[in-house]
Amino acid sequence: MTDKSTAKVFCATVMQTPAPNEVEVIKDALINVGADGVIISVTEPTAAPYRERMQAAREAGQLSVLAAGKYLLPGLIDLHIHAPQWPQLGKALHLPLYEWLEQETFPLEARYADTAFARTVYESLVSNLISNGTTTAVYFGSIHSEANKVLAETCLRHGQRALVGKVAMDHPEQCPDYYCDPSAETAIEQTAELITHVRALSGNDRQLVRPIITPRFIPSCSDALLEGLGELAASTDCHIQTHCSESDWEHNHVLARLGKTDTTALNDFGLLTRHTVLAHSNFITRDDFDIIAETRTGIAHCPLSNFHFANSIFPLRAALDKGLRVGLGTDISGGPSASMFDSCRYAITASLALEDGVNPSLTPEVRGLRGSRIDFRHAFWLATAGGGEVLDMPIGKIAPGFQFDAISVDAGADGSNITVWDGIDNGIDILQKIVFGATRTNISDVWIAGIKVGIH
Ligand code: GUN
Ligand code: FE
Repeated sequence: MTDKSTAKVFCATVMQTPAPNEVEVIKDALINVGADGVIISVTEPTAAPYRERMQAAREAGQLSVLAAGKYLLPGLIDLHIHAPQWPQLGKALHLPLYEWLEQETFPLEARYADTAFARTVYESLVSNLISNGTTTAVYFGSIHSEANKVLAETCLRHGQRALVGKVAMDHPEQCPDYYCDPSAETAIEQTAELITHVRALSGNDRQLVRPIITPRFIPSCSDALLEGLGELAASTDCHIQTHCSESDWEHNHVLARLGKTDTTALNDFGLLTRHTVLAHSNFITRDDFDIIAETRTGIAHCPLSNFHFANSIFPLRAALDKGLRVGLGTDISGGPSASMFDSCRYAITASLALEDGVNPSLTPEVRGLRGSRIDFRHAFWLATAGGGEVLDMPIGKIAPGFQFDAISVDAGADGSNITVWDGIDNGIDILQKIVFGATRTNISDVWIAGIKVGIH
């Protein structure tokens, strides 16, 4: 990071989705950002103070003007990433979840006992995610304290807003000997220690990087561990993340072990709060919907991963219609893409598959689930403002009081797949084209907490 925490003013065409089906395009908006990285004002050219503010910014040497063809969008919020799985992105996806974990993922994650290996991988991961426009990342680490600290420090050094969790997993029948917390007590202790460490990290005064309590999923955790982490969450006021009702195998395993669904069990363990992020939640029942709504728990929908491991598609539209908080996750590496624009696209595709159904031997009346589709507006909202609501943080919108976490999208960048036609495409058309066509090559600048961070 070379940029400094100073007041800044941007003049740019803003494109965003403040609500799930609302697009806002403000041409040549003036965005005043305080030295603390928080947006002070967004002024439209027709507003009275526009000229005066523009003049003042210019005189103070604070003004940055985005070039024609570049658009300012809120930064992307990835609610579900397994940091140690980065080296296996795009590998082993022919296996079902259980075998994938046993044969590929646990052996890889066990390697993070080697802190030097962690340093190399996490450096690559964080810089790649930022270059893809991910300004906030919610990470599962591994079981290893030192590697998890390296991950938190790497995010802080790169200036990425992040939540970092020590994966807790102690169940002797579900975890291999070589990758298992020795006891519930040690896993709880190490989780507590990471919480304290991350909060006190030097240079983290504004809590750009935060801890998150991370029981892997119910099958890999003992009851004592889940209960202890629930108590820890209450005493530390910390975020929580876990997997919930992801696949047939996982959902049925929990029903057989505990006689209740993941959602009910997690709630009984004190793990569903306003600051919980549940990955997947594909098989949630009507009662589960109610519990998630009452506890104000958030959901990380991971559509690409779901195509590989979930045996189903998350009922996203039903969740949104019920007012649940939902955002998007890549689920690296269950989802083999680091791009949140890909997550948007897969969320749309998945919703269309759910709506129409996919089995041509069925009649249209019974083939799909009516009312399931979303469009580009919902998808971009999920990847930005929706993710911010899940985390209960002022991110995901370019609006006063929100953090200036933003990306500049250059539609005409070298190698761009987006073509904007003068006289044909209006602002809303351009945002659609970005959601459907943007790749890393289009992301020309990234700011987090008002600071321009390095991309490559
Ligand atoms: N369930 C438990 N662990 C994992 C994981 O690493 N990825 C996915 N997709 N599901 C899980
Ligand atoms: Fe996952």
